[in-house]
Amino acid sequence: MNVLGIETTCDETAASVVMPGEDGRGRILSNEVLSQIAEHAAYGGVVPEIAARAHVEVLDRLVARALDRAGMSLSQVDGIAVAAGPGLIGGVLIGLVTAKTLSLVARKPLVAVNHLEAHALTARLTDGIGFPYLLLLASGGHTQLVAVKGVGDYVRLGTTVDDAIGEAFDKVAKLLGLGYPGGPEVERMAETGNPERFALPRPMLGRREPNFSLSGLKTALRIEAERLAPLSSADVADLCAGFQAAVVDVVVDRVRVALREFGSIAGHPTALVAAGGVAANGAIRRALTTQANEAGLAFVAPPLSLCGDNGAMIAWAGIERLRLGLVDDLTAPARARWPFAEAAASA
Ligand code: KG4
Ligand code: ZN
Repeated sequence: MNVLGIETTCDETAASVVMPGEDGRGRILSNEVLSQIAEHAAYGGVVPEIAARAHVEVLDRLVARALDRAGMSLSQVDGIAVAAGPGLIGGVLIGLVTAKTLSLVARKPLVAVNHLEAHALTARLTDGIGFPYLLLLASGGHTQLVAVKGVGDYVRLGTTVDDAIGEAFDKVAKLLGLGYPGGPEVERMAETGNPERFALPRPMLGRREPNFSLSGLKTALRIEAERLAPLSSADVADLCAGFQAAVVDVVVDRVRVALREFGSIAGHPTALVAAGGVAANGAIRRALTTQANEAGLAFVAPPLSLCGDNGAMIAWAGIERLRLGLVDDLTAPARARWPFAEAAASA
């Protein structure tokens, strides 16, 4: 089964062909990603109109290239999966209309994939792990702790009450005059900084529900930055290190609470999984590896190339759904908002 995956929900235009491997993992036959970062950098964030225009300019060629690199034609594909949301609606529409057209012309099944579900299932693409597992999904728009019980069976244990973790990294970077996207910039600056110079808060630490809150931490950082201005590069490095250390402490604490709740909802987890752009962060990966090991669990996070948005994860989610006979038709809507996990009864 070869599935073409198309992703256009944010600032990456991506197309990929994936097939199931013999070991339960996916085999990525091609994975084309065109980042629009350069087009948005001057604005310090993604501009929806620019994103939509950039997707429409490159998507057809990118799909052709993904098929080419996979060594196949459209007629050899067994399904077309597309991220139908959540995301910036202009981009989502471009991906969805393209996928519908290809599906109609080539008479191939269409799978309308939830972008978040695709991040959630990436650990099965890369590592072939079984259900259930605890997922930390952290990107620019979302921060959730989810019990992944099966395809389409997701229970949300916790979420953020204000900013997503990636969003907080991006805002901190902007505040400190670093580039966009902020996550990698803050991480790079943090390497040479002293995480203990500033006493920054750890919001939500010790709370019973595994929710997140980032805005207090961001405000505390802004106050320190304003007090010190103009900032030397050592100041910036120390602020980045302090911020990242606070985020790591919060993540570990929230995951600890979620692991405690997991058993009564889904049984024994097979692994602790991180996904979404923030899962690229080395400090978070190291802390979660230690935490998982202490809990006797494997820690699984995608390789850096599959942490951010990509077409392979969409194709893989398409494979998972097609295997279960979950096919969509041309009425599939584009959705700006599309929650993928049911809230836990207690959350
Ligand atoms: O999943 P993603 O590529 O796009 C969506 O938001 O769906 O995630 C992008 C987010 C951005 O906020 C970016 O700053 C953050 O992930 N990010 C990171 C790192 N790399 C990307 N955050 C922290 N550390 C990183 N190394
Ligand atoms: Zn994403």
